[in-house]
Amino acid sequence: MTGTGPSFVWIDGVLRPADGQHLSVSDRAFQLGDGIFETLRAKGGRVTELAEHVARLRRSADGLAIELPAGLETMLEAGIADLLAAEHLDGPDGDASVRITVSRGAWAGRGLLPPVGEHLVATIVVQAWPVLPPPAGHLERGLSLIASAVRRDPGNPVIALKTTSRADYVFARIEARRAGAEDALFLTVSGHLSEATTANIFLVRVAPDGVTELATPSLDCAILPGTTRSWLLRWGASAGLRVTEGRLTPDELVTASEAFLSSSVAGVLPVTRFHGHPIGDGVPGPWTLRARADREAFIGDGPPAAGSADPSATRPDSAATRPDSAATRPDSGR
Ligand SMILES: Cc1ncc(COP(=O)(O)O)c(C=O)c1O
Repeated sequence: MTGTGPSFVWIDGVLRPADGQHLSVSDRAFQLGDGIFETLRAKGGRVTELAEHVARLRRSADGLAIELPAGLETMLEAGIADLLAAEHLDGPDGDASVRITVSRGAWAGRGLLPPVGEHLVATIVVQAWPVLPPPAGHLERGLSLIASAVRRDPGNPVIALKTTSRADYVFARIEARRAGAEDALFLTVSGHLSEATTANIFLVRVAPDGVTELATPSLDCAILPGTTRSWLLRWGASAGLRVTEGRLTPDELVTASEAFLSSSVAGVLPVTRFHGHPIGDGVPGPWTLRARADREAFIGDGPPAAGSADPSATRPDSAATRPDSAATRPDSGR
């Protein structure tokens, strides 16, 4: 193994040294990408939206007919807690990126079809890394994106599953690096925005009727239904934005006032250039910074009190509770 990383890995209920030899070469996730995963954030030892991630893991498992053990959520909760403690990431200052990977298991035979009649036991792995601050400039200048040459078919049912087959995504990231950009956007076969390689995309724009909108590609645009995306849709409504999901074009991206990416670990990241064209003023916009601050506060403070549907309600002084705040109101829109 190269590179520095965690000391431990949790595998099927046992903490093991991270640099040991753990999996069979016949493991189907290694051979075929026949596995699923989730990545989530744990701050101060508190796991953000575990139930939502487990629900998506179950949907991914259903899609690939991977059998998950009973009591999965409880098992994962305990496993994550043990791992965070072992990695010293469970204290008040701990901030961890947690990855849960489930492989269909090891099968020494050949072929794509999971063998019928053989009881393959899924391997469940949990890893944790410290969350590093975004690289220099990402928050101050925003990200530069390109469109990937890989097109997305909205009729492809596998896109909505979070499988370990990520070659398209790695390819797109390499395209971005070669172009001097930070990330790549997938477009659908009809040329609409889909998502970035590890994040959903949002636009902020002023509609012809003067209302400020938070717009994001709809679920039929070949996207992963992001947990942060769902949170932001609720956040946008509570912050006084008109929230829309639909088919968006690259032209709408470059003419938006602001754009940002959303994901569980990186949170909200501003996007300020697409193929070199500035978006809005070409700098991170006020709604983006506010979304990021409110999401980070939510992650830090935990979920809202029972009965509250307002995702910003975790912070009594949240800017989102003051939609007309002069300090945060975008004063221009395109
Ligand atoms: C392709 C893709 N889209 C979107 C997301 C965002 O999902 P979430 O907000 O649940 O992290 C991810 C997260 O890893 C992703 O890999």
